[in-house]
Amino acid sequence: MKLSVHFAPLYEIPADWLIVTKWEDEPFSAPVAELDAKLDRALSRLVERGDVTGKAKELTPLYDVRGVSAQRVLVLGLGKRAKADPSLLLNTAAAAAKLTTTKSYPRLALALPDGVPSIPAEIVARLVAVGLMQGSEGPGIRKNKVDRFAPQEIWIVAQASGPLEAMASAVRRAEIEGRAVSLARELVNMPPCDLYPETFAERAVEVARKAGVECHVFDEPRLVQERMGSLLAVAQGSDRPPRLVTLRHRKGGNGKTLALVGKGVTFDSGGLSIKTTDGMVDMKCDMAGAAAVLAAMQAIAELDLPVNVMGIMALVENMPSGKAVKLGDVLKARNGKTIEVLNTDAEGRLILADALAWAVDQKADRIVDLATLTGACVVALGGEVAGVMSNNDGWSEKVQTAARTVGELVWPLPMYPLYSEMIKSEVADIKNTGGSRYGGAISAAKFLEEFVADVPWVHMDIAGPAFADKESASRSAGGTGCFVRTLVELASGAV
Ligand code: BES
Ligand code: MN
Ligand code: ZN
Repeated sequence: MKLSVHFAPLYEIPADWLIVTKWEDEPFSAPVAELDAKLDRALSRLVERGDVTGKAKELTPLYDVRGVSAQRVLVLGLGKRAKADPSLLLNTAAAAAKLTTTKSYPRLALALPDGVPSIPAEIVARLVAVGLMQGSEGPGIRKNKVDRFAPQEIWIVAQASGPLEAMASAVRRAEIEGRAVSLARELVNMPPCDLYPETFAERAVEVARKAGVECHVFDEPRLVQERMGSLLAVAQGSDRPPRLVTLRHRKGGNGKTLALVGKGVTFDSGGLSIKTTDGMVDMKCDMAGAAAVLAAMQAIAELDLPVNVMGIMALVENMPSGKAVKLGDVLKARNGKTIEVLNTDAEGRLILADALAWAVDQKADRIVDLATLTGACVVALGGEVAGVMSNNDGWSEKVQTAARTVGELVWPLPMYPLYSEMIKSEVADIKNTGGSRYGGAISAAKFLEEFVADVPWVHMDIAGPAFADKESASRSAGGTGCFVRTLVELASGAV
């Protein structure tokens, strides 16, 4: 998909699909009204008959239009202008693209909506452009008969009165972000027979080489040398050896270093604390945090952001076997802390313990980790919102602001000291379960906090938003590529 910006009257846009937007309870904008005139008032007639209202995500396709350069026109409802926000803009554009990609249409054009309150036109352009890219791809990566047809070109049609340069760079950024989100989705959608720690690490090496990112892969002997006993314990039940990948983008001179740390459990069976079939069925998605880190590093490098960012991916497969870690085992993590394992299905925190300690040792000044960590977080916040937990309110605010700017949904959960009681062990420094189902997202975060020393750190529990078990109007089933754009936004602000 190639993205570009165009300044021309809408009736002159030679696209297979021209998407125009309408705000609810408002007339068409001037450029759309001009298009409507050339269409013999076809659009206004639909409004008069009540077919087009402008309600959010209302899609009205006109398959056979005459008098304009476009082959087909799609009227897209945006809802009430006062209610527009980044996530609505992106998802609405995605819903439109889902409709226009059911057959092969090489060129898709969208007329930028005008005057979105409190969102600059360039940000609107970026959001809708990414939305079109995301909506153009489905999860059918292994289908013999493809059922989705991404366009070759996406045109963003803007009004020439706007800032031309800013618009062009917004669309360039959207293309990079859109490709990164696609990469994350593809990795999550890959079957665990093909994507396991070794192949995931190989893919990271390839992505890093193409994007110009430094990449180091630790194999098992090196992980032993680096004293990553907690990560190794999770991996020991599997025939697939673990990997730890460190990616570095150093373009920030002597400035601070941001570390992005991702949980990469390529399949989570639960280990000896084995899951039920229902609980295991989507567990190829348990590497979505690591996928987001790799994808964000790709985008950060392609955008050549003037910052220092380190990406760390902890890659293991969690399996039961004669060699698997047992309940009651005590592990020693990289930072020397001892951990009693009371549930082998709480494996994410075990691998992140060593990955976070590694980030600290690598002189990270700020840390964000992303992990499909707990079902409890999904119970608390539902399937589309990530939980945010932190040891530093200022840093947490920054991460939440970045998420809000790009339209990704997050909500903070408290980190009162009393939650630490839940992870006290009789025999070791800490145990890997909270003991109670209640507050499970937070006791997991409290566990992670033991490994970040005093570095400002934010933990994002993405167990809900990482994977959609069924499709919706604006989202395909499968990996969602969530929080890749939040990380890019975070890196593009001064850390
Ligand atoms: N990968 C799961 C969490 C998860 C659940 C992700 C649902 C996505 C959707 C994690 O490793 C896990 O199994 N967590 C346990 C922790 C418990 C044993 C303390 C859970 O949430 O049940
Ligand atoms: Mn688990
Ligand atoms: Zn897991």
